[in-house]
Amino acid sequence: MNSKKFTIFGDPIEHSISPKMHTFAIDGLGLDASYSKTHLEGACRLRTIFLEGYDGANVTVPHKEAAFGQCDEVRGVAKEIGAVNTLINEDGHMIGYNTDAEGFYRSVLDFGEIKTALIIGAGGTSKALSFILKEKGIEVTVLNRSQKRLKDFKNFKTFDWESYESSYHDIIINTTSAGLEEANLPAPKPIMIDLFSNTKYAIDVIYNKETPFLKMAKEYNIPTKDGADMLLYQGILAFNLFYHDKYTFEEVLPFMKKAFDPTAT
Ligand code: ATR
Repeated sequence: MNSKKFTIFGDPIEHSISPKMHTFAIDGLGLDASYSKTHLEGACRLRTIFLEGYDGANVTVPHKEAAFGQCDEVRGVAKEIGAVNTLINEDGHMIGYNTDAEGFYRSVLDFGEIKTALIIGAGGTSKALSFILKEKGIEVTVLNRSQKRLKDFKNFKTFDWESYESSYHDIIINTTSAGLEEANLPAPKPIMIDLFSNTKYAIDVIYNKETPFLKMAKEYNIPTKDGADMLLYQGILAFNLFYHDKYTFEEVLPFMKKAFDPTAT
């Protein structure tokens, strides 16, 4: 049996938990494979490096759009999203997928039935999440601090801080980087009070940090999640693409989950 080789491309890449996740799954399932980190400052050689050295790969910030552009074929929701995070080497052809969006949807499903969602932010993450939620039949509203990027959300109800109107949403999702470095909420306090007074659940896509957004949600006794499950689920879906669905989601989950447990070896 040929040993399989996988990697993750990104810049920076040091912090990435993906190698740990995939290595736990590879070892747990007794597979002959390795998963490395590839630090790539520019994306121009991504396709060559991938096809010459790897059976499959993940792509993280800032190369997801560039990878999309270099694929021989893009499959599934990635076509609409315009970004890929998973690559498969199919007989020397680079095939791209996006498991971030589906992984996020699965993490939302853990809360139960969701019919309406409000997404804060209008960048790349918001685009991917709003697309998948809409495709799954959820009514999505997008709130952003400024108008400019809302132009990309033609098929959605959109508000900026000025035009914001109160209404109920089953879930509020923060995709902005507010709270990552500074102690900021993603919208002014009066809007946040109104949002948390009119929702059941809250998710911040930031992982491993209790942001002011999540802190405030907890003050309102709203069940919350950070981005950890989204990260875990996109990894399982990528792994299943690497192994052509040989293993079920549930089979891979306990192994990959160990990567989030600091005591696991
Ligand atoms: P990503 O690809 O992670 O989604 P991005 O494309 O840089 O990141 O988009 C970030 C989004 O968060 C933008 O909509 C940005 O608002 P603007 O369109 O007005 O720039 C929003 N954002 C970033 N920092 C923010 C902050 N401190 N408060 C509120 N919104 C913020």
